[in-house]
Amino acid sequence: MHEPDATRREWDAFYVGTGERSIWSGHPNGALVAEAADLPPGTALDVGCGEGADAIWLAERGWRVTAVDPSEVALERARAAARAADVEVRWVRAGLLDATDATDAPGGLGTHDLVSVQYPGFARSEPVVAALLDAVAPGGTLLVVHHDLRGVEHHQHRPGPGAPPEDLLMPRDVAAALGAGWTIEVHTTRPRTGPVPPEARHVDDVVLRARRSG
Ligand SMILES: C[S@@+](CC[C@H](N)C(=O)[O-])C[C@H]1O[C@@H](n2cnc3c(N)ncnc32)[C@H](O)[C@@H]1O
Repeated sequence: MHEPDATRREWDAFYVGTGERSIWSGHPNGALVAEAADLPPGTALDVGCGEGADAIWLAERGWRVTAVDPSEVALERARAAARAADVEVRWVRAGLLDATDATDAPGGLGTHDLVSVQYPGFARSEPVVAALLDAVAPGGTLLVVHHDLRGVEHHQHRPGPGAPPEDLLMPRDVAAALGAGWTIEVHTTRPRTGPVPPEARHVDDVVLRARRSG
């Protein structure tokens, strides 16, 4: 067990606290749409999928999607949204590291043509970064997106429980771990596009897209 039960409880409480409504926009993240729309569909892993809009958007485009999140409340909403959209997604209730080792997931999470991590609510660590890199198939794409938190005060960035802002896994942490065998295709800070939920108080995204050699 890597992720403490407290993580699941905190995120469940966060989602319950939003009432019946979805806290996120219900639409796929703009950075995912921008970076993945032209990729040929294959297998995808959405890490920290929340209420599932990204996973559902990918599935609608023909991807075979595994989506991981420790919050059962978020996954219940995601399952309902997938039913409404009439798409299949493999939902895994676990944190990334637990899901990687999960005995009920043969071979753990396996490797994927796209691994997407959007606004992760968890802390950077060597095992977390290694698990993300290991989950990308040869020739596959790793997409990591977060808010540009530079200059944002703590009290301004509290969209979820998770790790304190200074500990959150950021695109630069992943970029720093990419060695030979990886090409960084995009690493930039740019205005957020697409519907922005009211909880997101700042506008810029940091986007890392890297490709693993085939
Ligand atoms: C800010 S939300 C982003 C949700 C979604 N990616 C989106 O963009 O709408 C962060 C998500 O990370 C999930 N999370 C927290 N700890 C995690 C972990 N160790 N592994 C995977 N996901 C985690 C939370 O439950 C939450 O749904």
